[in-house]
Amino acid sequence: MARRHLILDCDPGVDDALAILLALASPELALEAVTCVAGNVDLDRTSANARRVLDLAGRGDVPVHAGCARPLMRRVGVDAAWVHGDDGLGGIALPPPAGPLADGHAVDIIIETARRLPAGTLTLCPIGPLTNIALAIVKAPDIVERLAGIVLMGGAAFNPGNVTPAAEFNIYVDPHAAHIVFEAGAPLVMHGLDVTHKAPATAARRQTLGALPAPIGPALIRMLGGYGTGDPFVHDACAVAWLLAPELFETVEARVEVECASPLNLGQTVARVKPRHLDGASVNAKVAIGIDDDGFFALLTERLARLAAGIAS
Ligand code: RIB
Ligand code: CA
Repeated sequence: MARRHLILDCDPGVDDALAILLALASPELALEAVTCVAGNVDLDRTSANARRVLDLAGRGDVPVHAGCARPLMRRVGVDAAWVHGDDGLGGIALPPPAGPLADGHAVDIIIETARRLPAGTLTLCPIGPLTNIALAIVKAPDIVERLAGIVLMGGAAFNPGNVTPAAEFNIYVDPHAAHIVFEAGAPLVMHGLDVTHKAPATAARRQTLGALPAPIGPALIRMLGGYGTGDPFVHDACAVAWLLAPELFETVEARVEVECASPLNLGQTVARVKPRHLDGASVNAKVAIGIDDDGFFALLTERLARLAAGIAS
């Protein structure tokens, strides 16, 4: 089976870290590059954390490119250090990155990769604010029709947000970028809080992950232990899991539009599903609304076990 070429655009971030590890552990995926954006913490930390996580997995060969340090229109006004820890990785204190950032801005790497690979073979998997993706689309509109698709973590179509009652973090940080991405016309799958909140990392699941061989198991325990409150949600790993096992998910087709003006509802992802709501408008996204959460964690655990075994060998 042909491997799916992938760029993960992220803001590590504990759940971003799990998404990166899951992608590395999955032979179906050819991780072309990791591109970073400011989000959970600032760009210096997200781009360093991406390299730290790749080093943890022995994959310092995967290029990491820094992207945008701020949203398109808004000033940086919010981060999620209160969720992910000041270091962005739950306070795990991994060693500093072994290598430097790769040359080239994230936006340019996204464009270059999309133009270099055969049409229909590159999937973008944004799991942070969408600033890099939006700028790539604006700078090089030709890449949209070359993409296999965009599978993102972000939004909340039929449930409250996690930053405001209306908005989820990745969209809220840069709603204008999200608008550009949702309106671009690429095949799009949205993994919002509608689905990610149905897959909590319960204590039993964290214990299973933590029992994996070092260095993966102990790292997961420490990262997840410093992430969120109660049973944390590994939001970003859901987007990567879709690429591996879409049968674990239930989706609905919708037209999703992003609120960019209302101070009250800024960043809301408004999803129109019913014909009378659509009123002739075309759908632009598959929205994930259900998950086999046991199946998801079984996949995550099985793949990370493979990764751990490979590192230990
Ligand atoms: O709302 C959850 C999203 O915001 C996840 O991508 C998490 O990493 C944070 O970026
Ligand atoms: Ca993220």
